[in-house]
Order: sequence, then structure tokens, then C-alpha cells
Amino acid sequence: MNKRGRKTDQFGVDLRTKLGPLELDNPVMTAAGTSGHGAELAAFFDLSELGAVVVKSVSAFPWPGNPGPRLTPIPGGMLNSVGLAGPGMEGWLKEYLPGLRRRRIKTIVSIWGRTVEEYARASELLATELDGIVALEVNVSCPNLKAKSEIFSHSVEATRAVIEAVQPVGIPIFAKLSPNTHLVAEVAEAALDAGASGVTLINTVLGMSIDPLTAELELGGGGGGLSGRAIRPIALRAVYELKKRIPEIVIIGVGGISTGRDALAMILAGASAIQVGTATFSDPKAPMRILGELSELCERLGIARLSDVVGYAPKGMKITPAVETLSDMKAED
Ligand SMILES: Cc1cc2nc3c(=O)[nH]c(=O)nc-3n(C[C@H](O)[C@H](O)[C@H](O)COP(=O)(O)O)c2cc1C
Repeated sequence: MNKRGRKTDQFGVDLRTKLGPLELDNPVMTAAGTSGHGAELAAFFDLSELGAVVVKSVSAFPWPGNPGPRLTPIPGGMLNSVGLAGPGMEGWLKEYLPGLRRRRIKTIVSIWGRTVEEYARASELLATELDGIVALEVNVSCPNLKAKSEIFSHSVEATRAVIEAVQPVGIPIFAKLSPNTHLVAEVAEAALDAGASGVTLINTVLGMSIDPLTAELELGGGGGGLSGRAIRPIALRAVYELKKRIPEIVIIGVGGISTGRDALAMILAGASAIQVGTATFSDPKAPMRILGELSELCERLGIARLSDVVGYAPKGMKITPAVETLSDMKAED
């Protein structure tokens, strides 16, 4: 505790994060689908020290996912077509939730569906076992079977319908949005109107890979989602523009974050919290490392309370570090 009785990290920085009704000790989370179904990363560090752990999206039913190959490397990132493989909500509650609870991990459960009813069903099943679960993340970046497979979050109405349908779950809800539409702000507004506490931005960027020697699609699922460092500018801009358009919105920023500096840039763009995804594949401790780097960076820049600087960039506000700090830090680049 510091002098004012606030919870602080080892550098004396207040990292507490408020996401609507959800309060977390710090703003760093794992990103859905990149750290397993449950507490798999506990082999590498204490997951209860993260702000929260977001588990791989779970559906109401077991789902095999796409045929292989499911991953292909791309300069600066990777393409995946995992296809949301998973044990289904009943299986997940039995197999994975106990390990998360035992370790006192603040867990955010991500759900997906192919219809509004499937999202509703997944959230109903989850609602039977909420102990240890701090929020629901609704992955609305999936194809809607009843609308010619248009992605839910490319449609204002479909997003509204899904968020309304999962409302009875009774915990804070975050809508995880696709960046592959010009309607991000309208969709975000619909999610908030329907009762979401905020949005998670961005899911992967649509892409594909073709072998030029055989004309074969390189992913078993055909198309895929691009993630990793290559998409960081896309994520940063999406967060910045949304925060500029809706200043009061709560955003969880995700996309290509692999250092504390990336995390701070995302927070300055408008994110109240951040998620670490693809960086975890090359460094399983990445979320914890990034948390340490972020707090050290804040300390060096004289940021006593991280929540104060959320959205500085779209507000046109600046940090004014001491000249010697700035030159030292530029020399480290
Ligand atoms: C292998 C893989 C699986 C993913 N699975 C999910 C998922 O189940 N649900 C979801 O909402 N996002 C999923 N994502 C998207 C990530 O959560 C994240 O939004 C995206 O990868 C951008 O962040 P990053 O560049 O830090 O990875 C997945 C990403 C990858 C690479």
C-alpha cells in the first residue's frame, strides 16, 4: 500500500483498473484462445497475479474446430484457423473451471455461437457455476448461420441481439469485436445499448495464405485470422478512433502487444486494460513480463496512477517526462 492506502505494485505505481462494474488489480490479461482453455500457463507463472485470464471461447456444445493445418507463420505474426475447437460448456465447467478456481485466478469466460440461441445457451450453462468468474467476454467475431455466415459483429442488429440474449448471466459483459468492418463504432454502441459494460478490440484480421508452387490454400480452414506484431498498428488505430468517437466507452485493447511499451501505447490510445495473445506463443511468460515492464515504464515516466492516462492520445494530452528520462529511454530503443 502507498501513503494513500492504494494498492500499488513493486514500483509504487497504482495499476488498478476499473472496467465498468469490474475492478481488477492491474490491467493485463491473456487473450482468448492464446493461453489454453484453463490454467495451462500456470506451469510458467502465477496466473492469479494477472488482472484476469480470458479462456478460449467456449460454445454450448463440443466442437472439433477446423481441419489442419491450423497455423502458419507470417512475418511479424501468424495466421490461424483453429476454428474454435473446444469441449463445450458442460465439459469446460467440469474439466477446466476447477483448476482456475483452485488457483484463485480471476477468470473471464469467452463464449461463441453460430446463432443467437447458441450464445444464449452457452451463457445459461455458465450461469450455473459463476464462482470465480468475474466477467463474460462474448466473441461476436463468428459467422452467423442465419445471416449467410456474415460475422455477428459486422452487423449492428446481430450484435445487439446476441448481447441482449446473454444479459441474464448477471456478470459484467464485454463484446469482443472484429476489426474487419467499417461499422466498429456503431456495433460498439449497439453492444453498450444492449447492456455490455465495454468492448474488447480487436479480434484477428481476416487473411489467407496460398502456396505459390501448388495453388493450395495453406490453412485447412481456407481463410484465417492474422495476429501478432503485424496487426498492432491496426489494433491501436481501432482503439484510438473508437475512444475518440465515444469518450466514455470502456475498451480492452488487444492486438500485437508484446512489450510494456506496446501496452502503454494501447492504454494511451484509449484502452483501460490490455490483453496479450500471440506474444505468448514465443514467450509463455509474456503477460507477466509485460505487466512488469508496464509498471516500470510508468514509474520512469512519473505516472503514479495508470488509469489517469487512459485515452491521453485521442484527448490530445501529453506525458511530459523529465528530459534525461526521455533521452535515457530513447537510447534503450
Ligand atoms: C491461435 C489463436 C486462437 C484464438 N482463439 C480465439 C478465441 O477462441 N476467441 C477469441 O475471441 N479470440 C481468439 N483469438 C484472437 C485473440 O484473442 C486476439 O484477439 C488476437 O489474436 C489479436 O491479439 P494478438 O495479436 O496479441 O494475438 C485467437 C487468436 C489466435 C492466434
